[in-house]
Amino acid sequence: MANTDTVEIKIGDKTFLLPAFAGTYDEKAADISKLLAETGFVTYDIGYKNTATTRSTITFIDGDVGTLEHRGYPIEQLADQASYLEVMHLLLHETLPTQAQLEAFKEALNAHAGLPAGIYTLLDALPDEIHPMGMLSVVMNALSGYHPEAEDSWANPEVRWDAIYRLLANMPAITAAIYRRSQKLPYVAYDPSLDYVSNFLNMMFGKIDKVAAEALDTLLILHADHEQNCSTSTVRMVGSSHVNLYASIAAGCNALWGPLHGGANQEVLEMLEAIRLDGGDTEKYIAKAKDKADPFRLMGFGHRVYKNYDPRARVIKKYVDKVLDELHIEDPLVEIAKGLESAALSDSYFVDRKLFPNVDFYSGIIYRALGIPVNLFTVMFAFGRLPGWISQWKELREHNEPINRPRQIYMGEATRDYTPIAQRES
Ligand code: MLT
Repeated sequence: MANTDTVEIKIGDKTFLLPAFAGTYDEKAADISKLLAETGFVTYDIGYKNTATTRSTITFIDGDVGTLEHRGYPIEQLADQASYLEVMHLLLHETLPTQAQLEAFKEALNAHAGLPAGIYTLLDALPDEIHPMGMLSVVMNALSGYHPEAEDSWANPEVRWDAIYRLLANMPAITAAIYRRSQKLPYVAYDPSLDYVSNFLNMMFGKIDKVAAEALDTLLILHADHEQNCSTSTVRMVGSSHVNLYASIAAGCNALWGPLHGGANQEVLEMLEAIRLDGGDTEKYIAKAKDKADPFRLMGFGHRVYKNYDPRARVIKKYVDKVLDELHIEDPLVEIAKGLESAALSDSYFVDRKLFPNVDFYSGIIYRALGIPVNLFTVMFAFGRLPGWISQWKELREHNEPINRPRQIYMGEATRDYTPIAQRES
């Protein structure tokens, strides 16, 4: 498609030409930015199913084929060959790092690591019942209080980079502190001699396991970015108000918390466990999933964008047996998950509806094998997603995009006069 192409729309007897453009892979877009001014019409697209909110150079997804690329690199290659730190660098700095750049990146992270003591006091003061995602959101907002200069993170590049490195450097410590707070265990300090992921394992469990570190590194890569998903769009929307980076990320955490988004990995594990407790009959649950009158929902299947196998699920599935083998763990949930998957993939109900396993389907099994409790799964998703959120926020800043302010179609009462309370009918 040439950038001179247009999309023609007819309203009554008038024809309007909308500028059109195409992305790298010829994804076509009609630019409606002047539609309201020129035609008096807005578009109506509930849930943004047909709306591109930005032109991005970070991540590409072809949902029909089932491909995912970050800055052109296929996710399978990144998961197999890169480290999480290289992927972070790729997302943020647009290139895979040279050895010297990687060392400089690690140094920058080390220089920004170390959570303020008040964050631990704050975690201790929270109610025991709070969900770990609630803790994460509180911590993100609180960090802005320890770094008030971040109010300037939109305007000042030095402050911006400082906040970016600080968030990335502290995410392992934040995640581990949330875990230890919820388990009522003493906190473990950051150790600058350890690499990023080993440091996290050490702060979580007080020990490092090579197999666990490798598996975790891969899981973090697989979650690193996923273009304009709900939490990323939230980060961009909130960020477009020019609020500081910490507050924008806190908003993303809240969006991720929901069971239809990052909370789904927790739901999958709880579903598998419930099936196991009920005797492990996968056929029975496949039938329940197909029965519209049954409230049971097959979690971890289907995706708004993928109408094919989620490529991240494919990579994770490959790792499940390897990780469990290497950690000498036998998990009855693996057989249940595989049983559900093969039954669903050979059933026309799921195939016709293009309901394939997504990233959440197998990730929980690996988290569980690593000793991570189910209610921390969504925090682990946030841990992996942080560089994506930040890169998307940074891109929004670089494009200097305007404040996000959608329109609506008002369907309520037309103008009417106020009625004094005594005259209102009960
Ligand atoms: C994600 O990774 O954010 C999820 O797959 C959800 C999405 O992309 O919509």
